Amino acid sequence: MRKPIIFGNWKMNKTNAQAQVFFDGVEAFVTDKADFGVAVPFTALATSVNAASKMNVAAENVHWAPNGAYTGEVSVEMLKEIGVKWVVLGHSERRQYFNETDADINKKAVVTIENGITPIVCVGETLDEFEAGNTESVVRTQVSGCLTGLNGEDVKNIVIAYEPVWAIGTGKSATVEIAQNTCALVRDEVRNIFGNDVADAVRIQYGGSVKPDNIEEYMSQEDIDGALIGGASLEVDSFKAIIDAIK
Ligand code: 13P
Repeated sequence: MRKPIIFGNWKMNKTNAQAQVFFDGVEAFVTDKADFGVAVPFTALATSVNAASKMNVAAENVHWAPNGAYTGEVSVEMLKEIGVKWVVLGHSERRQYFNETDADINKKAVVTIENGITPIVCVGETLDEFEAGNTESVVRTQVSGCLTGLNGEDVKNIVIAYEPVWAIGTGKSATVEIAQNTCALVRDEVRNIFGNDVADAVRIQYGGSVKPDNIEEYMSQEDIDGALIGGASLEVDSFKAIIDAIK
């Protein structure tokens, strides 16, 4: 059985003070029905790690180099020092606005795993790719490109988030059928590369306009093990409602 995994992604939202208010509000309601967590901006990481007890805390990005002349970037060691155990890699907003490629994400995945930080690797097609019927080839290419060269035992423990770009922040969520079918082909690609044991163990999230009132439907699907949630993870009340929806 794969344990459900529900993470928020705050994106470029929340100061330290606001992060503290969030954790003060949700911690008491966190259950053991899932691994719950939230990805927070770099500046709020230390506060969030200190404020979280049952919640998990992720960074939203990391650089692959151990240190050096990369102005504005943050290394894995810096995350480790403050107790960060998770990182979101290759979010579509990083791919779209900061030109991140599958090869970049792969390098980041390698160093995070080597350092005991668990990556949540994001994949997903754009609206043009969706409308052209290219979802399958795009997503398979992203999965193989991001995970190439990793050790199968390590891949069992990572998380892959399928987030169709056209469903992010648009209020236009993918139908449950589309989400299930694409998560199934993500798993199938993992099966092709790493075999049955790894494919059966790896946890796959759906993300894109997930809300308290639609999360149960997604979670009832065979290949959807969790959700990556933007807008609905920002408020204490909506995050509490998400926690309550995971029975
Ligand atoms: P929304 O839930 O706001 O659509 O964002 C999804 C997302 O990008 C999570 O990483």
